[in-house]
Amino acid sequence: MQAVRMMNDDISIDPWGSSQSTDYSRIIEKFGLSSMDGISVSEPSRLHRRGIVFAHRDLDIVLEAKRKSNPFGVLTGLMPSGMMHLGHSMVIDQVRWFQQQGGDVTIAVADLESTATRGISLAEGRRIAAEEYVSNYAALGLDPEKTTVYFQSERNIVQRLGFQLGKRTNLSELEAIYGFDGSTNLAHVQAPLVQAGDILHPQLDEYGGLRPIVVPVGVDQDPHLRLTRGLAAKTNWFNVKDSKMGLQVGVSIQDQNSQIMGVEANGRVNKERQKEIFAMIVNSISNLGFSDIISNPKHGTVNVPSATSRDRGPIRMALLSLERSLGGMGLLAPSSTYHRFAVGMTGDKMSSSKPKTTLFLSDDATTAEKKIKKSFSGGQSTVEEHRRLGGDPDKDVAYQYMMYFFEEDDAYLAELNEGYRSGKILAGEMKQLCIERASVWLTELSEKRDETAHLVNSFFE
Ligand code: TRP
Repeated sequence: MQAVRMMNDDISIDPWGSSQSTDYSRIIEKFGLSSMDGISVSEPSRLHRRGIVFAHRDLDIVLEAKRKSNPFGVLTGLMPSGMMHLGHSMVIDQVRWFQQQGGDVTIAVADLESTATRGISLAEGRRIAAEEYVSNYAALGLDPEKTTVYFQSERNIVQRLGFQLGKRTNLSELEAIYGFDGSTNLAHVQAPLVQAGDILHPQLDEYGGLRPIVVPVGVDQDPHLRLTRGLAAKTNWFNVKDSKMGLQVGVSIQDQNSQIMGVEANGRVNKERQKEIFAMIVNSISNLGFSDIISNPKHGTVNVPSATSRDRGPIRMALLSLERSLGGMGLLAPSSTYHRFAVGMTGDKMSSSKPKTTLFLSDDATTAEKKIKKSFSGGQSTVEEHRRLGGDPDKDVAYQYMMYFFEEDDAYLAELNEGYRSGKILAGEMKQLCIERASVWLTELSEKRDETAHLVNSFFE
């Protein structure tokens, strides 16, 4: 689901809503995303090269893991509710790219969420997931050997984690993030907690252990990432922040760890135990090669004056490991990447419930041709005017679909853009080009679906 609502001057994102804003720079600013400008992606995919992936959170941690050949994971989810359309394929393009970069892939079928928010039965969700989605994942080139698809309703640990994390939030926070109110049904309230379980569980020891996990999604899903990152941070026993003296580690005493940290039930501090804990912190950090480490148990802090913000990642990982060895969850906040939404064919929002607004991955060439012919055009109203003033490729659906989905060759795409803008290429011609590419693309996909049908079961755990 894709929704960014504009309220007066304010942007809010509702993952279950139906409208959406395309003011991406304001979204970045308001929700504290990082733009892709500051980050260099090697072997960029089509979506990166064209700015379609426009923002991220902590992607550097994942790219750094890849550079060092350290493990990293990818997790995303699908809501089994309708047919899979082109818009949904963008997440899979991103997942495939991360998979090619070496990430292990886990995909959640959000059957609980679908029941909670769409009234789809678990059995129906299961059918839709296999027939509509996973068959296309196989055809789009996800590697079944390196991909696991699971159902929320069946992965106990996801639900358990969601439940445990529920302790770290409250209704006010959910109201603030999602706009819930007193009438919101409780299954709907649970859905984001289960999603937090989805996002965090791959780093548990049973599912691959501590490593960065990146969540590629449409920006409508960012509220879930905000919630999940906050929840993970609240469970952490050790925090790392910038200070006047390099980086500073702070110790967070909580019900879950006070005993272990040497704070006794009556509030008295067990100095011996405290010393041990601080020695472990110092040891973890010195193992990374730092020698000047200032431990201050009284203040609950450890300073590393020579550490810069680039050292934050490794220090954080070392302390999460330490936390785990002491019995904590040691959860690393997830990274994420966000793609822009392709415009619907009619010029409105793309939606599975409005077939004219999108191409379904199961559409045949004839259906695609009809839809593209009727698609919203960025051309002028007469040929003469078009030749004279040129068309607007930013509004032209046929051009946009070439850019988002069908045309791999950047140089050719640039030619089309330029030709359209200058009036050399007419709106009808652009549509024709798009129809040709779309037919080939859809026909090939359908052939691939047949070829890979036997693999579908092997995606499920
Ligand atoms: N909420 C997502 C959607 O509406 C589906 C989903 C469930 C998901 N769990 C997830 C997405 C975890 C990303 C990560 O499509």
